Amino acid sequence: MSSESRKSKKTIAVVFGGKSAEHEISLLSAKNIVNALSPEKYDVVLIGINPKGQWKYLEEAKTLLNSGKLTQFSESQKNTKDVAVAPGNETNSLVVTGESHKIDVVFPVLHGPYGEDGTIQGLLKLLNVPYVGPDILASSVGMDKEVMKRLLRDSQIPVAKWVSLRSHERSQYSYQQISQQLGPTVFVKPANMGSSIGVHKVTNESEYRKAIEDAFQYDNKIVIEEQIKGREIECSVLGNENPRASLPGEVIVRSKDGFYSYDAKYVDDNGAEIKIPADLPKHMIERVQKTAIQTFKALCCEGMSRVDMFVTDDEKIYINEINTIPGFTNISMYPKMWEATGLSYNDLIDELIRLAIQRFERDQKLKVLKS
Ligand SMILES: Nc1ncnc2c1ncn2[C@@H]1O[C@H](COP(=O)(O)OP(=O)(O)O)[C@@H](O)[C@H]1O
Ligand SMILES: [Mg+2]
Repeated sequence: MSSESRKSKKTIAVVFGGKSAEHEISLLSAKNIVNALSPEKYDVVLIGINPKGQWKYLEEAKTLLNSGKLTQFSESQKNTKDVAVAPGNETNSLVVTGESHKIDVVFPVLHGPYGEDGTIQGLLKLLNVPYVGPDILASSVGMDKEVMKRLLRDSQIPVAKWVSLRSHERSQYSYQQISQQLGPTVFVKPANMGSSIGVHKVTNESEYRKAIEDAFQYDNKIVIEEQIKGREIECSVLGNENPRASLPGEVIVRSKDGFYSYDAKYVDDNGAEIKIPADLPKHMIERVQKTAIQTFKALCCEGMSRVDMFVTDDEKIYINEINTIPGFTNISMYPKMWEATGLSYNDLIDELIRLAIQRFERDQKLKVLKS
């Protein structure tokens, strides 16, 4: 290898796992991302977070990554050193358990709470290293389904009608009162979660009660939404100041749960069919892309996000949610929609890394003190 290419070789720290119900999905995503980081261009430092929230790195992280399972993951943490991370003295360097690593970019591959919600982004900002994906603010508002909806409403972007409840207000409404406001079928979900964990389709009082109790296991705040009858369309967005949108994809749900549930996503092989690109007329593709970019901007996103929406028979678009660290597994929509748009998985990862550096360099120019 020439000295020039060695110099331009970047070190990427891939952080994966995490204290999240989506832990195993993160392992699958991280494995794919690591495989896509070509060794000619990148050195990879693995940092794995186990379900207890303990950090592991290098060899131990590799074991965690390859285990692929929660159980083996916990087994391997016996008698291991804890990992401490601190900013290094050089720019873009991290001190991990006493050893200094030059890190060009951190790729947080953590889904759901403690990863997609601004927490790791806050840590990385303090560590002063570039990282892939939206910043602290966008991550946390994108994670919180209630705050997200309020911001979208403020930007005149349609969302399903909703009621939000805090834990101490759980008995405030009966199903009857809720259905008078939102219709006979409602969706109950934790405000902060993902992968359909704690999400319930509800059509009567007893289902409503059970759904509320379950959703409150995952968050102190829940949202209850009117049902939107429409096709589930998703669109990938990529970029900083001038984000672009991919061709949309569609999830055709076949699950007995009647919605895109956890089982339909990860357990039942026939739970859902993915269609990329979605079979939509040209004018609808353009509207979906435009709405996805508006949503991305309204939620202050940069880097990447997957915008999920419902498209009704009468061509109305409702935003369902945004995923600021979307899945990167073999079957994940985000990279597949880019592939269909002409951007390969490897080129997408390169572009995400480039965007992380561009944003970091831009923000480094900001003054932190009055001169
Ligand atoms: N208001 C709604 N109307 C119709 N279906 C919904 C609604 N909200 C959620 N769903 C169904 O539940 C699934 C999971 O809900 P979502 O809000 O996307 O949660 P998660 O963040 O866990 O993916 C959606 O993909 C969809 O199938
Ligand atoms: Mg979803």
